[in-house]
Amino acid sequence: MQKLAIQGGYRLNGEVRISGAKNAALPIMCASLLTADELYLSNLPDMHDVATMIKLLQQMGVRVDSGIQSATFNAAQVDKLEAPYDMVKTMRAAILVLGPLLTRFGEARVSLPGGCAIGSRPVDLHIKGLLAMGAEIHIEHGYIHATARRLHGAHICFDLISVTGTENLMMAAVLADGITVLENAAREPEVVDLANCLIAMGAKIEGAGSDKITITGVEKLHGANYGVMPDRIESGTFLVAAAATGGHITLTDARADILDSVLDKLREAGAKVEVEGDRISLEMNARPRAVNLRTAPYPAFPTDMQAQFMALNAIAEGNSIVVETIFENRFMHVQELVRLGAQIEIEGNTAVIQGCAQLEGATVMATDLRASASLVIAGMVAQGETIVDRIYHLDRGYEHIEAKLSALGAKIRRIQ
Ligand code: UD1
Repeated sequence: MQKLAIQGGYRLNGEVRISGAKNAALPIMCASLLTADELYLSNLPDMHDVATMIKLLQQMGVRVDSGIQSATFNAAQVDKLEAPYDMVKTMRAAILVLGPLLTRFGEARVSLPGGCAIGSRPVDLHIKGLLAMGAEIHIEHGYIHATARRLHGAHICFDLISVTGTENLMMAAVLADGITVLENAAREPEVVDLANCLIAMGAKIEGAGSDKITITGVEKLHGANYGVMPDRIESGTFLVAAAATGGHITLTDARADILDSVLDKLREAGAKVEVEGDRISLEMNARPRAVNLRTAPYPAFPTDMQAQFMALNAIAEGNSIVVETIFENRFMHVQELVRLGAQIEIEGNTAVIQGCAQLEGATVMATDLRASASLVIAGMVAQGETIVDRIYHLDRGYEHIEAKLSALGAKIRRIQ
């Protein structure tokens, strides 16, 4: 199993290009199932989850021609309407084939995702929405088996905000008969990116980016060329890394307009942040100040940035409180940060962090994608060597992270 060996104590300096967003690329790739024409996607990030999604679509009969950070998808000959357990268990986003398969082919069999490291993460809202649109759904042998002659429009109000739930129902609705209204919809920028791609394919969608999305079903969609948006979580991760190590970095091909809550917290921590077009610069020359956070759906502070800020708070001046409101079990990184000398106590969904002047290198284990990123950041500020084990989590959702960090001056290498 591969590990990262990190020598702490080096400042980050220089420029880094931000990759396409994982959480936009995955649903947009599933949108290729909605048409028999070709969908050409550019700015696809080179990471395991994207490769897994390509494999899943190929298993269904989608022809995929991969290029450099791009691919053409052709779903003219889909013959297997199924997402098997092996795929869904490694990548929950595989649930996103459910809506497209059902609405275009009238049937889908998708494995239930089951538990994962950051919580139980059910898919009841996806199922409830499809039922309201006229689907027949049976749960059998661990699979969701959905059928429908043609889905119809419906008025659906989400009990709680779900990103992939909104995306699945939006994709189901684009080919449904009539108008679908999604209320209490997720406002995440990745939902907007998916909507823009669907609109480029001929879908009629209004209101994406607000909490009410109206979709008027059409008979069929056509092919399109679409470029995936930049990854706001990768952007935030590099910025937090530089705020923790100190230094001066510039992100290129980034978007500051979707990072407000994160940039505000970095400024509060003492960083100088400047934005110029698609470039975001961060300069930090002092020890960071501790910042309190509370995760919530967009545009509030993202749960996917919580672990990275926990690493920053661990070495910051002062005490802080971090409240996780989205996932009940998303503090798995805390016990590993404590192994590096961090002083953190957890009470329910709240972590209380006492900033300490110095962490010390140790061997730690990554438990999920963003937790891994927080351990890498902590390793870059810790004294001596930190070994981060189980980095397959990191490879799922970051494009060449150690190469990018090395180019910025970090001492980090991959070992077997
Ligand atoms: C997406 C992101 C993930 C991010 C999360 C929250 C992708 C591929 N993944 O995950 O990186 O951390 O949004 O911003 O885009 N819930 C239910 N029933 C459902 C669906 C969700 O109870 O049917 C609950 C979840 O358990 C969780 C909350 O709703 O507590 C939000 O989850 P959701 O927005 O659905 O997360 P994902 O879409 O899986």
